[in-house]
Amino acid sequence: MSALAASHAADLLARMRGKRVLVVGDVMLDEWVWGAVSRISPEAPVPVVAVGDHSFTLGGAGNVANNLVAIGANVSFAAAVGDDPEGRRVLDLLDALGVERSGVIVTGDRPTTRKTRIVAHNQQVVRADWESVEPLAASDRARASALVAKLARGHDAVVLSDYAKGFFSRDVVEAANAAHVVTADPKPKNMALFAGVTCVAPNAHEAAEASGVAIKDDASLERAGAALLERLDTRYVVVTRGERGMALFGARGERLNVPSVARTVFDVSGAGDTVVAVLTLALAADAPVEEAVRLANFAAGAVVEKLGTATATPREIVELMEHAGDG
Ligand SMILES: Nc1ncnc2c1ncn2[C@@H]1O[C@H](COP(=O)(O)OP(=O)(O)OP(=O)(O)O)[C@@H](O)[C@H]1O
Ligand SMILES: [Mg+2]
Repeated sequence: MSALAASHAADLLARMRGKRVLVVGDVMLDEWVWGAVSRISPEAPVPVVAVGDHSFTLGGAGNVANNLVAIGANVSFAAAVGDDPEGRRVLDLLDALGVERSGVIVTGDRPTTRKTRIVAHNQQVVRADWESVEPLAASDRARASALVAKLARGHDAVVLSDYAKGFFSRDVVEAANAAHVVTADPKPKNMALFAGVTCVAPNAHEAAEASGVAIKDDASLERAGAALLERLDTRYVVVTRGERGMALFGARGERLNVPSVARTVFDVSGAGDTVVAVLTLALAADAPVEEAVRLANFAAGAVVEKLGTATATPREIVELMEHAGDG
């Protein structure tokens, strides 16, 4: 498998539609305050933003759900929110997206993770975060892992989306491992929790930190990938490398390096969520892993070409492939 033709990718994307995927992880509420600055505050040397618009979007694990829905997957969600208006807004956004959310627990002792960005003239002025990074209370951890265990069985795949906000424990990962395909996008300090999943997909910085190998060239990349494969006992490690593309390491000696494919880069944030979403769906559709990696790389390319919304549709992915050749 040296390349992935656009026509073949279209067939694969069609097979991915309707796959049942459970997203588990650290959900966030992204709050956006949009406005214009016309003066400096008399109270302090800061701009005064006259608010013109105010909106909310799903972030963190929620953005993985956005990406899965954009491809046409049937998505369920398991996470923890606080007993607060932001938590209720997260549930409403999941409902609006058509995501089944019986796996979301409401906790009494922590706030919903919320990131508020104030943006003036398309430039971020400041960001404020509300969050707890403490682990879930023992009783909440038990509720969460029981729900994940129950839900995982009815799904074709599970995505574990970790932003190190405290949702993950070994119990939750073991519950998820009941599914046929389990992929994880872990933060380095939690990497060991994800042992035994099908595939982990850290970025190069995270892979270096978790493996203890500074990634400087092809040889050190290979050492880092091999170390993670062995340490985590996963079938695959996929390292995303920003503008350098992606690298695959398989436990049976599979190796693949694909260069990035974006024509123009507008907004790279969230591309990692796109990668894990597409990779998971392709593996759930029984695609060979090399095809799954190539398709995820094109999907990420389509996403970084866009300003704002960080999802790619099957049509956008195929269009980029047709434009770029068969990569
Ligand atoms: N500057 C870029 N140019 C081209 N492609 C890019 C660029 N940045 C990211 N990509 C594509 O997106 C993929 C994932 O990006 P990256 O490695 O930055 O993940 P990440 O750090 O987890 O991102 P995030 O955490 O913001 O979602 C890359 O493998 C590549 O295909
Ligand atoms: Mg990432």
